[in-house]
Amino acid sequence: HDQPVIATSDLSAHVGSTVVLRGWLYNKRSSGKLHFLELRDGFGTVQCVMAKSDVGDEVFAAADKVTQESVIDVVGEVKAHPKRAGVYEIAASAFRVLASTTGEYPISPKEHGTDFLMDHRHLWLRSRRQHAILRVRHTIIQAVRDFFDGRGFTLVDAPVFTPNACEGTSTLFQTDYHGEKAYLTQSGQLYMEAAAAAFGKAYCFGPTFRAEKSKTRRHLAEFWMVEPEVAFMDLAGDMDLAEDFLCFIVERVLERRRPELAVLERDVGKLEAVKKPFPRIRYDEAVAILNEARAEKRKMAGESEIPDFPWGEDFGGEDETIISGRYDRPVMIHRYPAQVKAFYMKRDPTDDRLALCVDVLAPEGYGEVIGGGQREDDLATLERAIEAHRLPPEAFGWYLDLRRYGTFPHAGFGLGIERSVAWICGLPHVRETIPFPRMLNRLSP
Ligand code: 4AD
Ligand code: MG
Repeated sequence: HDQPVIATSDLSAHVGSTVVLRGWLYNKRSSGKLHFLELRDGFGTVQCVMAKSDVGDEVFAAADKVTQESVIDVVGEVKAHPKRAGVYEIAASAFRVLASTTGEYPISPKEHGTDFLMDHRHLWLRSRRQHAILRVRHTIIQAVRDFFDGRGFTLVDAPVFTPNACEGTSTLFQTDYHGEKAYLTQSGQLYMEAAAAAFGKAYCFGPTFRAEKSKTRRHLAEFWMVEPEVAFMDLAGDMDLAEDFLCFIVERVLERRRPELAVLERDVGKLEAVKKPFPRIRYDEAVAILNEARAEKRKMAGESEIPDFPWGEDFGGEDETIISGRYDRPVMIHRYPAQVKAFYMKRDPTDDRLALCVDVLAPEGYGEVIGGGQREDDLATLERAIEAHRLPPEAFGWYLDLRRYGTFPHAGFGLGIERSVAWICGLPHVRETIPFPRMLNRLSP
């Protein structure tokens, strides 16, 4: 056959013609004189119906022997599904195997355990579900770029090797840098603050690293973060930006990835509810919500054991689920106690115990997707904070220069791509949201 190869995503333009498709055998069913070969070419899948009477005994027998994930060519006529719009079928007239598999493909259509699938991640990516998730991820990342590019931000890439701890010293991956101690970056923020003074509005997007010692469904050792930073923006402006940003991303996915969300059986009504304005509550109000829930639990259980939430502590995953459960859209919690936040946070001038920060919790219990806030812009205050957090002052000389030479109010935030994908796709765990996850016990494949 000498016709050009057509992608499964282009079938609508070829109804009634005979085409060649090339890909991998995703699945096969047979019934007497018919084979149903599901061909996967990376763009989608299509069912090829092969009748013995059309192809002859020899080809029909060859198709009977073809193994899952062998590379095949199928020639046939494109037919529109009689009932389902947008679905096509191929009436196969010829067939050829380009590469057979060596042994049985490990991921058979039966159920497999998570560890097994994670060990075979390099093959698992071919499955319909993983394909759908990573296409949503792709669209989210494209939306991230379009949003900031469309608002006059300049992309300023942050380094991966750094001498600076940004988000505390307990989750640093340390490495040797030509005899000097270096870390894999936890966040590009400090560099974006330099960029904000140079470009006004800047953002970075890249991999970030945290040596998280805990195994949770929300933590990866390596994750991708987008971090905008804006000169002369305050906390309220930061919240406005985060709100517009999340609405933009969700809308984009709803616009372009309905079929993938359907594969994932995502309740899109929950995503359609993500509209401005998002509730904005203070840390104190969030604590009151938790205490109400605890009082209710005490009443139900008839016990007094359950204590109130200790003011001043950070929220855990379960706390976040209770708080976000009150709302049908993301909730922004601002003004946490400074003691649980990073050294660079600006204090609330009306209450020195509080930081001018915001965490955005995704609805439906998906947890914190954004963390950010206004930065300390006073040199002496920042010097004291670096000392109080026991950070090595010599590593922060350049950062303090930003306060020495034309200090300016500024704010920004970081959005974790994987948690956003988990939320938008409706996945219980972040491990499927990144092509090759790095977690506490996983460095391979
Ligand atoms: O709240 P975090 O730690 O904030 C920062 O790093 C700031 N420097 C960002 C900034 O203001 N420029 O992290 C931001 C987001 C979290 O809300 C979460 O979505 C994600 O990054 N994140 C993780 N995602 C997966 N695995 C982990 N271990 C993560 N840690 C943070
Ligand atoms: Mg955070």
